Amino acid sequence: MSAANHAAATAGAAANATAPLSSLAPVLSVDHLSMRFGGLVAINDLCFTARRGDITALIGPNGAGKTTVFNCITGFYKPSEGRIALQFGDPGVWEELGALTQRGTRRASRGDGVLFLLERMPDYLVTQKARVARTFQNIRLFQGMTVLENLLVAQHNPLMWASGYTVLGALGLPSYARAERSAIDKARYWLERTALSERADDLAGELPYGAQRRLEIARAMCTDPALLCLDEPAAGLNPSESAELGRYSMRRRFSSSSMT
Ligand SMILES: Nc1ncnc2c1ncn2[C@@H]1O[C@H](COP(=O)(O)OP(=O)(O)O)[C@@H](O)[C@H]1O
Ligand SMILES: [Mg+2]
Repeated sequence: MSAANHAAATAGAAANATAPLSSLAPVLSVDHLSMRFGGLVAINDLCFTARRGDITALIGPNGAGKTTVFNCITGFYKPSEGRIALQFGDPGVWEELGALTQRGTRRASRGDGVLFLLERMPDYLVTQKARVARTFQNIRLFQGMTVLENLLVAQHNPLMWASGYTVLGALGLPSYARAERSAIDKARYWLERTALSERADDLAGELPYGAQRRLEIARAMCTDPALLCLDEPAAGLNPSESAELGRYSMRRRFSSSSMT
């Protein structure tokens, strides 16, 4: 990433949309993040915060390093340098940040507040424990499954837990039946929020492109994320599809989450 590109990405990151909840503590704090691929510097000393309930934008031209930032946040890449802290619950736990950094461990808690250092975590734990969800620049849905099934697969972890990780559990345990009902309820809720209820039984691959983008967001929301990272959510959309995306997702915000 060139110096000019880096400046653009940094400036974009700082340009938080002002929101009523913006006085709250950050959900994400990125400090002095750098990522090098051999001699290529994709991210150079990037700092920004994202606050709960805010929509925070990373802006920069192609190759500026936006996707690489997402890949670092979600644990797909291990950054060359820098700290990526994510918090939910009681924000008082932010006071543990210095001690946590020194300790070399990945998690601190205080009361019901939890703080994670994402650069120390493998990607599956970033998703499961730190509750970071993402969508991809290129849509990655299960095209041969229905819209509803895509949202149920996203809730695989709580369903497996309720089954006791056994086939018999999945067939017979009341806890599994309850978890399955709750997974369907949650899926239906997000289908309604993204205006996809009428397409619930259609194959994901048969949806128009804009609806597939919304389904990706619904799928991410079904995991109850503390932070939702949308990588180029409007890529490939025509103006009316972009407007629809805004109408059903961005402007409504996702109350408890911070979207980046
Ligand atoms: N795995 C990788 N190996 C080598 N270079 C990479 C890798 N991932 C990204 N890059 C490079 O990092 C730079 C930033 O890419 P990217 O984060 O995709 O930019 P953006 O999303 O802003 O378009 C580009 O020059 C890209 O080629
Ligand atoms: Mg990109």
